[in-house]
Amino acid sequence: MKQATLHQLKVFEAVARHNSFTRAAEELFLTQPTVSMQVKQLTRAVGVPLFDQVGKRLYLTQAGEELVKTCRAIFENLDQFEMTIADLQGLKQGRLRVSVITTAKYFIPRLLGPFCRRYPGIDVSLQVTNHEYILGRLNDNADDLYVMSQLPDLDITYEAILDNPLVVIAPADHPLVNETNIPMERLAEEPFIMREPGSGTRKAVQELFDARDIELKVQLDLGSNEAIKQAIAGGLGISVLSRHTLALEGICNQLTILDVEEFPIERYWYAVYPNGKQLSVVARTFLDYLLTEGKDFAQKTALRRTLPQTQSNGTPLPSAANSGDQEHPVDHPPAS
Ligand code: PGA
Repeated sequence: MKQATLHQLKVFEAVARHNSFTRAAEELFLTQPTVSMQVKQLTRAVGVPLFDQVGKRLYLTQAGEELVKTCRAIFENLDQFEMTIADLQGLKQGRLRVSVITTAKYFIPRLLGPFCRRYPGIDVSLQVTNHEYILGRLNDNADDLYVMSQLPDLDITYEAILDNPLVVIAPADHPLVNETNIPMERLAEEPFIMREPGSGTRKAVQELFDARDIELKVQLDLGSNEAIKQAIAGGLGISVLSRHTLALEGICNQLTILDVEEFPIERYWYAVYPNGKQLSVVARTFLDYLLTEGKDFAQKTALRRTLPQTQSNGTPLPSAANSGDQEHPVDHPPAS
């Protein structure tokens, strides 16, 4: 291993991540023969094969898997070192990698604006994906911080950021609009639009209805909150989504929140990272920002911009829709 260079490790990690020599070459602005040569030299230095090639597909060997983990730990340590040096020089600079669940896209990008203006030396990479994918990234230690609603059964450190209630959303002219405390069983008569398998929203909805032994008439699975809102407005059914998904202008005046028993399902967004992970200077700066100014900003902006306070026909929304957080503040559960 003594002859291996940092450059070879970078090339190898890119090949492993893309599972392709060609794509790694594209990412690194190298030619494909150069990439192959670097991996060949590294393999020679390690002394055992790093990839198996079956047909056109590449598979990491066990040694390859171990080396990928080692490479990522080395790169992370080097990044941290660079950030620490920058911090010693009075600068906050480096790369911040954050993965957030789909609903957090309604506030995290808005928070990033002021943060990036304050720290122009920080480059941010933001992944927006569902609960299951975030778990995968958390397991792979792919990011500095994660924002999610359902705390995983893993060894993690977490801090509550903001409440993220799930509500029942229907078209604004739905016959149940003026009903209060609608029985959950009544929803089983409506065509239901569900988030895709792997979604945290779907899991929370299923758990609630399973606990009451109620089977929903799921007519459509959709992998995006925005697509579900369009489908509801188009009359394809009702659904349960985070109330924050109503934060954007546009289609929301065609939607309403139904007042259903057991709703909203109370949940929170949490900032999460693996226990024992040494946060970089940049990640710590962002976490502090998220938990102080960011939290205030999100509270003010995200919920102020939910559904208008009247329906399209001018009558007030049912009480569930009006019970904004300003009226019924919810205490965050204690963070770890
Ligand atoms: P999901 O998570 O995108 O996996 O449904 C959203 C949420 O938990 O708020």
